[in-house]
Amino acid sequence: MSTQIPTDDPTRGVTLATSPAGALLEAATLARWANELFSAVPGGEASRAAAPSVPIPGAPVAGGSMPSPPSAPWLPTADTAVTGATPDFQSFAALVHAVLPRLDARDLTHPALPSVPLVGQSFAAQPTNLDTASARAPAFYFLQDRGIPSLPRGHGHPAFDVHSIRRDFPILATQVHGRPLVWFDNAATTQKPNVVIDRLSYFYRNENSNIHRAAHELAARATDAYEGARRQVQRFLGAASADEIVFVRGATEAINLVAQSWGRKYVSAGDEILVSHLEHHANIVPWQMLALERGAHLRVAPVDSSGQLRLDEFQRLLTEHTKIVSIAHVSNALGTVTPVKEVIELAHRAGATVLIDGAQSVSHMPIDVKALGADFFVLSGHKVFGPTGIGVLYGRQSVLEEMPPWQGGGNMIEDVTFERSLYQHPPTRFEAGTGNIADAVGLGAALEYLTTIGMPNIERYEAQLLSYATEGLLTVPGLKIIGTAAHKASVLSFVIEGLEPTAIGSALNQEGIAVRAGHHCAQPILRRFGHESTVRASLALYNTCEEVDALIHALHQLTASPTKAYR
Ligand SMILES: Cc1ncc(COP(=O)(O)O)c(C=O)c1O
Repeated sequence: MSTQIPTDDPTRGVTLATSPAGALLEAATLARWANELFSAVPGGEASRAAAPSVPIPGAPVAGGSMPSPPSAPWLPTADTAVTGATPDFQSFAALVHAVLPRLDARDLTHPALPSVPLVGQSFAAQPTNLDTASARAPAFYFLQDRGIPSLPRGHGHPAFDVHSIRRDFPILATQVHGRPLVWFDNAATTQKPNVVIDRLSYFYRNENSNIHRAAHELAARATDAYEGARRQVQRFLGAASADEIVFVRGATEAINLVAQSWGRKYVSAGDEILVSHLEHHANIVPWQMLALERGAHLRVAPVDSSGQLRLDEFQRLLTEHTKIVSIAHVSNALGTVTPVKEVIELAHRAGATVLIDGAQSVSHMPIDVKALGADFFVLSGHKVFGPTGIGVLYGRQSVLEEMPPWQGGGNMIEDVTFERSLYQHPPTRFEAGTGNIADAVGLGAALEYLTTIGMPNIERYEAQLLSYATEGLLTVPGLKIIGTAAHKASVLSFVIEGLEPTAIGSALNQEGIAVRAGHHCAQPILRRFGHESTVRASLALYNTCEEVDALIHALHQLTASPTKAYR
């Protein structure tokens, strides 16, 4: 039997369980039930006995002097153990969460559960024989050695070694028109390392299931993997809690979610939404739609002639009417790195909420959303070496808690009758329907890969590469770089007198060099500089000076005989 307790917040509802006598259960009773249920789980004692034989992170590896690999981050820790437990325990956990919504599953640990995250014994991809695995019948999936593919032993790229990194990306060995592929279209999408490709394959071979609520083994595996990926994103972004990480399709969907959920709640007629001139269409159109619907106004902070945001003008545009500031961390069209820390501080001082569009920054520099103080931060998995169709909305917990759902359906509800629905807490409240489970797991693997290399190392290397490429481009006759801010990241937008950007793009393609030519979904900023389109070479951690040389050489040849571009 259950009783619905209405709350004063329409976005939340709490289902309270009652005892047979109808009285509310107390926490002490629930804790006692928890202990009894754990003790009743078959194999619980055996698992405890077996635990010491499983290596823990940092422990010496038998028969080898290799450094310990990083802990496989998709392996669940004790704090998600509930997903791999028995159906009885699952319903019990649901009950506890319903009664004490802020209670963390960590608080439910039993001596039979590991107190530290366990790491599998093998880090090489190994097929798992499910029949054999179930014959061994361990009580908890998370106590097994699952052989999930991870970084190979010794794969630490101790010093930044671009050639070693390149070997992790099989597509970089591809030939295009008889030439080695040079991938300079990283701002559009990035290539995928083996660890991501293998992780996806492993998921579909060994773990595929819908997540949450099911009683069977594969549901537990898939749920562990999905929630593990959420924690990887949390760590990568420096978020305070995994509950602040919402999986979405990408940066575009994340911004639309905020505009439609937060925006419809907080933006009214006469209010202002402040963006910059640098924005990608994904950070303009959702706000235009909201402004139109609510009778609000879109304000645009200008940039200077280098393509850097004018902070003085930005500050002038911040008024008591400004409800939200939504701004790119890195411009996809020019490469400008905007002063987001200052932007956030100024906006907060003015009482505005801030969304940072990190679609183009996450793959190039360390991000710490807590240190930045952002209210929202969005990213796309495919631009950070992860799969397409998966992305992240980070939202500060207190902000997410106050937001209504934006889509309704399965998964996001606490309870449904024909009269009303009660919603889950974030992040589940914003994940209606079956999500992109496998690709979330793949994204987790991508972020783990980057963490192993070290984002500061990547940032340092790319700064040198960008400076090398900038110097090289400036030797090409008639070439003009669009976007010359002092602080830039890995994007080189340019035009060449007398040559159409699309013709340059096609000619470079004949040399195996992939660049983008067009408006880059950022028409306002290109028009600000007097162009409808540019050529854009965007760099990533696996690009080399040799590849830059190939680009410069091809452009020299092209400008020497421009007719080549129009063949
Ligand atoms: C700065 C910026 N924001 C948002 C987006 C939208 O990303 P997606 O299409 O992956 O949703 C992009 C894509 O290029 C971008 O560069």
